[in-house]
Amino acid sequence: MSEIKNLKSIAEIYKSDKIEHGYIQNYESYFEKIRDEKLKILEIGIADGKSLLTWSDYFKKSIIVGIDIHKIDIAEKKLDRNNIEVHRGSQSDKSFIEEIISKYKEFDIIIDDGSHLSKDVKKSFELLFPALKDNGLYIVEDMQTSYNHFFGGNPFDLKYSNSHMNFFKNLTDRLNYQEIANPFYIKNKYDGKITNISFYHNMVFLKKGENNQLSSEVINHSYENMKFKEKTNRSGNHFRYFIKYKIFYKFFTLILYIYNLVKRIILLRI
Ligand SMILES: C[S@@+](CC[C@H](N)C(=O)[O-])C[C@H]1O[C@@H](n2cnc3c(N)ncnc32)[C@H](O)[C@@H]1O
Repeated sequence: MSEIKNLKSIAEIYKSDKIEHGYIQNYESYFEKIRDEKLKILEIGIADGKSLLTWSDYFKKSIIVGIDIHKIDIAEKKLDRNNIEVHRGSQSDKSFIEEIISKYKEFDIIIDDGSHLSKDVKKSFELLFPALKDNGLYIVEDMQTSYNHFFGGNPFDLKYSNSHMNFFKNLTDRLNYQEIANPFYIKNKYDGKITNISFYHNMVFLKKGENNQLSSEVINHSYENMKFKEKTNRSGNHFRYFIKYKIFYKFFTLILYIYNLVKRIILLRI
């Protein structure tokens, strides 16, 4: 009987650079419990096919789909296996990604190891997130390009630039969107759809899933409304609490909202 190899030993066979980048142990910690499932896995960026071959050996029952902007010689790279499928196109080309989605419907795992340009990483996420299954994982490698202006990143404005690191940092607020005590809050398309985002050195793992637990602190993004409800349920003095929460507290919130709006406009952070 052949010995079951762990991810690192398989990656060593194919000389995958995911070992020297320190990615393999992160991957293994997520993948070892699902390796025997029948999954659909998409990797953006094929190059010599080392990672596709690694996934193909590791996830024996899964389909491994690779996409690359360049033509890949399947025979030369030894990718002509039953569980590997290769397509040519760009990760940020809407119609190409739509064709991929219409062929495979949904993916359990999506790995972005493509151009590593900020605009492409964000665009592919936007295009592919709807095709990620619930409980599915979206992984982005080589996040260091976010700190490099030659890749469309921004090393000079770490907090407010349009880098893909900031894109994923901002998604962490989507985990807690219910708690945002801003009655003027406008729902984001990722609110309620992400259950975990984990950052590692140069790598992000994001888990899709339903996250619609109600806040215990605010009602419809309003702390005042929650307090008003709580207090009037406990005591009958509606008038006093109406003045306090619906007028005084609401006015205070409105002033803070306007102050922050003006500040964001002046600082061009709209
Ligand atoms: C780092 S290599 C992939 C390595 C491979 N995943 C591995 O671990 O063995 C990046 C690949 O992304 C491809 N690429 C670059 N821009 C792309 C784009 N816009 N869409 C799809 N693939 C792209 C390149 O052609 C290159 O083959």
